[in-house]
Amino acid sequence: MNQDQMKQAVGQAAVDLIRPQLASDSIVGVGTGSTANCFIDALAKIKLEFDGAVASSQATAERLKSHGIPVYDLNAVNNLDFYIDGADESDGHLNLIKGGGAALTREKIVAAVATTFICIADQSKLVDVLGAFPLPVEVIPMARSHVARQLVKLGGDPVYREGCVTDNGNIILDVHNLSIVDPVQLERDINAIVGVVTNGLFAARPADVLLLGTPDGVQTRKAQ
Ligand code: 5RP
Repeated sequence: MNQDQMKQAVGQAAVDLIRPQLASDSIVGVGTGSTANCFIDALAKIKLEFDGAVASSQATAERLKSHGIPVYDLNAVNNLDFYIDGADESDGHLNLIKGGGAALTREKIVAAVATTFICIADQSKLVDVLGAFPLPVEVIPMARSHVARQLVKLGGDPVYREGCVTDNGNIILDVHNLSIVDPVQLERDINAIVGVVTNGLFAARPADVLLLGTPDGVQTRKAQ
């Protein structure tokens, strides 16, 4: 199985996992990225078995709509049983780095609402220690230099993501060279910097389940 096939396999596995619990009024939280797109394509095949979705980005909303899946504003939804999304890295505790696609803030909001967060990823995303993937931080544009200086004090090397404007109208700093041994604390510390909207560590609210694509099939992992 190549990487694309592993992404398709985990997308289908997520649909298989949630399908027995979907009802005609269910609304599913949907993430962003190439793996999430595989999930959307698999979900579309059972679109008559649930009501609709909440999207974590404009791109995801467009893909859902292109399949004829109704997209709801999160504020119109009381609860989400499931949020399904990819990741840039996961450790064994299912702490994640996300935001490679710049959708981290909306992803974190939808994940916070959902009862169960199912992460889908190919095996290249599983790491012992988070941080080889540069940590995305969404920042209010006028605070860019201030936030960058504070991130350097935390031991990172922030790099402005050229040409990237988030769905919220903000910019992204990608923080290189962090070895993240305490992701919960670092998530908190970075979010405390004035001008930061949010950062791509999902540790205060990690995934509940990781469906990991491997050449031998999909493994189901829960936080250790
Ligand atoms: C987008 C994300 C994605 O989930 C993450 O970048 C993984 O993407 P892909 O499935 O394309 O590897 O956090 O903001």
